[in-house]
Amino acid sequence: MTTRVGILISGGGSNMVALARDMTGDHPGRARLVISNDPGAGGLLKANALKIPTAVVDHRDFPGNREEFEAALHAILEEARIEVVALAGFMRILTPAFTARWAGRMVNIHPSLLPKYRGLHTHQRALDAGEVEHGCTVHEVTADLDDGPILGQARMAVRPGDTAQMLADRLLPLEHQLYPQVLRRFLAGNRAPLMLDAV
Ligand code: GAR
Repeated sequence: MTTRVGILISGGGSNMVALARDMTGDHPGRARLVISNDPGAGGLLKANALKIPTAVVDHRDFPGNREEFEAALHAILEEARIEVVALAGFMRILTPAFTARWAGRMVNIHPSLLPKYRGLHTHQRALDAGEVEHGCTVHEVTADLDDGPILGQARMAVRPGDTAQMLADRLLPLEHQLYPQVLRRFLAGNRAPLMLDAV
């Protein structure tokens, strides 16, 4: 029996594709559902192409009501009998009630070397701070934003003249390497941090 994985996206979905493509053969999981909070998310078309069922829960249909938005999300995840949730560029902040429901069963990828630069604009903030290295982190999702136990990190050098966009472009392929490896280990019960070094 493989674990039923649901992937939550908001945008292009390149991490979702990397995860879904890896979930074949002896992988302990399978991508069973992709949900976006944005009906225009490019990742939905990519999920269709991969023949993964999709759903949209548009947060704009729940103005000022995060609980109802999350109740709708949760209902769809339950309906599809999802066991583990992977956030992959999902840009909504989740309430403690939702993270508690998925405690130990929800992971996220964040474009910084946590605990540095939680939240948004991570590449620019790393540049502004004069960092010589940057990277991404996969972590368990807890009530506090970008703060759960670290499951893996990939690091890379910041080069002279780098812009935020250059960092983002160079980091994304590392995200695609890290996240599938970490999810594979996580589903197999291995939560020891995996460290990839591209410096
Ligand atoms: C990725 O860089 C991911 O780390 C980041 O959004 C991008 C999504 O790209 N996630 C966050 O910033 C979460 N706070 P993708 O849609 O192509 O996977």
